[in-house]
Amino acid sequence: MKYPKEYLDEIKTRLKVSAVVSRTVNLKKRGKEFIGLSPFKTEKTPSFTVNDDKEFYHCFATSEHGNIFDFIMKTQNLKFGEAVKFLANLAGMRPYTFSKQDEEREKQWKEYCSIYSQYVKFYHEEILKKEESSIAREYLKKRNLSKEEVEKFKIGYVKNKPSFYEKLKNQFSEKVLIESGLFYFDEKNKIFVERFRDRIIFPINNISGQPIALGGRTFQNKNYLAKYINSPETPFFKKGSNLYNLDLARKLSNKIDHVYLVEGYMDVIGLSKNGIENVVANLGTSLTDKQILVLNQFFDDIIICFDGDESGYKAALRAAENSIKELQPEKKISFLFLPEKEDPDSFVNRNGRNTFIKFTKENKVPIHKFIFNHYIKQTNDDPSSMAIFEKTLRTVANTIKDNFIKKYILEYFLEQISSLTPHSNFRKKKFYHKKEKSLKTTQKYFNESKSLSPVELKEFSLLYIVLNNLNVFHVNTHLIENIKFFTNENKLVLENVLQELKTKDNLKLDDLLIDKQLIDKIFKFASIKHILNNNQNDEQKVLELLEEIKRDLKNYELEFRIEELESKFSKDLSESTFNEIRELKKLQNIN
Ligand code: CTP
Ligand code: MN
Repeated sequence: MKYPKEYLDEIKTRLKVSAVVSRTVNLKKRGKEFIGLSPFKTEKTPSFTVNDDKEFYHCFATSEHGNIFDFIMKTQNLKFGEAVKFLANLAGMRPYTFSKQDEEREKQWKEYCSIYSQYVKFYHEEILKKEESSIAREYLKKRNLSKEEVEKFKIGYVKNKPSFYEKLKNQFSEKVLIESGLFYFDEKNKIFVERFRDRIIFPINNISGQPIALGGRTFQNKNYLAKYINSPETPFFKKGSNLYNLDLARKLSNKIDHVYLVEGYMDVIGLSKNGIENVVANLGTSLTDKQILVLNQFFDDIIICFDGDESGYKAALRAAENSIKELQPEKKISFLFLPEKEDPDSFVNRNGRNTFIKFTKENKVPIHKFIFNHYIKQTNDDPSSMAIFEKTLRTVANTIKDNFIKKYILEYFLEQISSLTPHSNFRKKKFYHKKEKSLKTTQKYFNESKSLSPVELKEFSLLYIVLNNLNVFHVNTHLIENIKFFTNENKLVLENVLQELKTKDNLKLDDLLIDKQLIDKIFKFASIKHILNNNQNDEQKVLELLEEIKRDLKNYELEFRIEELESKFSKDLSESTFNEIRELKKLQNIN
C-alpha cells in the first residue's frame, strides 16, 4: 500500500536534505548548496552535493541522485517503508498505520485540496480582473497593498452574491462541499451559502503550500459582522497546528536563522511587503506547543511580536508560558513589544524595514527575562508577595522539558531573586544546587509542591513532627539537637522551638514566636503529615518517623559534602580528597 503523499510531503518539509545527510556526511556550505565527500565512494575531493531548495542530493562521482528517502534507503540499506518510518521518527511524527479508512481519507484529502485550490484560484482571479471586485481592490489599496502582495499571498475577494458553489457542485458531492467549511446550508432559505461572501480572503496554506483553510476579512463597517472569520476546523485543518505563511517563510530558513511570529494576516503581509519575509502568524488563537516545535524545525530564533495593546501583551504572556516548556538548547524565543497602539503592520508601514529591524535588535527580550519582568511588576517587597513571586517562577521553570534549559533558567530566576534579597543570597544558591541533584528521586514531592526544594520539604516534615508533638520533645530535647538544617528560615524555627522547650513547661504551638505564614507553609507541605496523622498519639511511631527524617537529612548533608569534594577533586586531584569522598560514600550507603 502506498503512503499518502500528504504524509511523505510532511516528512520532506520537516527535514531538510542537508539535515538528514549531515548526520552521516560532513557537509560544507558552498553558495546555495552543500558539498562533502561522497558516501557512495571513497574519495579525497568532494563530489557530493546537497541542495535543500530542490530537495535532493547528487553525487558527481557515482551519479547517485535522490531525495531524503533515497538517501536513507541507500546509505542504511533499508526498504522504502523502513526509510519512511526512520525519517518520520526523526521528524517527530507518528509512524503511519494503514487501514481501509486511510484509503478513504486519502481520497477525501485529494478532494479537499482540489476544492480549496479551485476556490482560491477562482476568487483570486476575480479580485484581479472583475469589475465587481473594485471595492475590494480599493480597500486593499487603502491598506497599502499592491498587486504584488495580492498575487504573492493569493488574496481573493468573494463577492456578495457568489456563485462558485454551483460550479463545484458538478464535481463534488454536497456532503464533501459542506465538510470543506467553505459553505453551509441555510435551513431557513434552503440554500447553500458561502461562508466568506463579501469578504477579502487570505488562503492559509499547509507547510507544502497547499491551501487548506481561509481567513476572511470584512471591510464593511458593520458592527454585527466579525472583522475576521476563519474556516472551521476540518479533518484537514487544525488551527493550533498551522501557521499562516509558514510555507513561504520556511524557504528562507537556509539564509536566515530567525522568524517573526505575529498575530494577524495583515501583519505578515505588511512585514513581507517591507522586505521582512521571515514572518508567520498564529491565526488569532493562542500559541500552541506544536506551533513552536514546527517553527523550531526551521528557525533557531523565534521573535514573538504581538500588538502593542493590552490584549497583545496578554497573548504574549500566555505564549511565553506555553512556549517556554518547549525551549531547547541552541533555540531561542524572544519577545518584541511595540509602542502602544501599534501592530507590526502599522509600525513597519510607518517606519520602514530598517527601523523595524533596528527596533527589534534594541528591544527584543529573551523569554525568561520577559516572564521575570512580568511577575516582578506584580510583586512588592513583603515576604508573602515575594514568596508567591519566587514560587511562581519556580513553577514556570519546572514546566521546561529540557533539563539543561530548566537548570539555567531556574538559575537565572534565583539569581535575580537573590539580588533583590541580598542577605539571603547564600541560602538561595544552596537551595538550587540541591534541588537539581535530587530531581528524580523526589519526583513525588516535587509534583505536590513544585516550587520547594526536597531538602526544604524534609525540613518541613521534621518541623511538622516537632510542632505537633511539643509535649513529647519537651522531655526529649536531645533528639532534636544537632540536626543540620540547610534553610535559614527553618533553622531559626528549630532553634527557637528548642530554646522554648528547654525553658518553658507545657509549651503550646501558639506560644511560639514563629511567623504564621511559615507555619502555614510547613503544615501545608510537610508530606509526613499524612503518615503522622494516621499515627496520632503513638509516641513510638512519632520517634521512628523523626529518626527516618533525620537520616534523610544526614544523607543530604553527605551528598552536598560529596559534591563539594568532587568538585575540589576535579581541580586538585589529591588522593586525600579522593579517600574522603570514598569514606563519605560508604557512610551514605550505610545510612
Ligand atoms: N482574528 C480573528 N477573529 C477576529 C479578530 C481577529 O480570527 N474576530 C485573528 C485574525 O487572524 C487577525 C488576528 O486575529 O489577523 C489579529 O487581529 P487584529 O489585530 O484585530 O487584526 P489585524 O491583524 O490588525 O487586522 P487589520 O489590520 O485588518 O485590522
Ligand atoms: Mn492587529
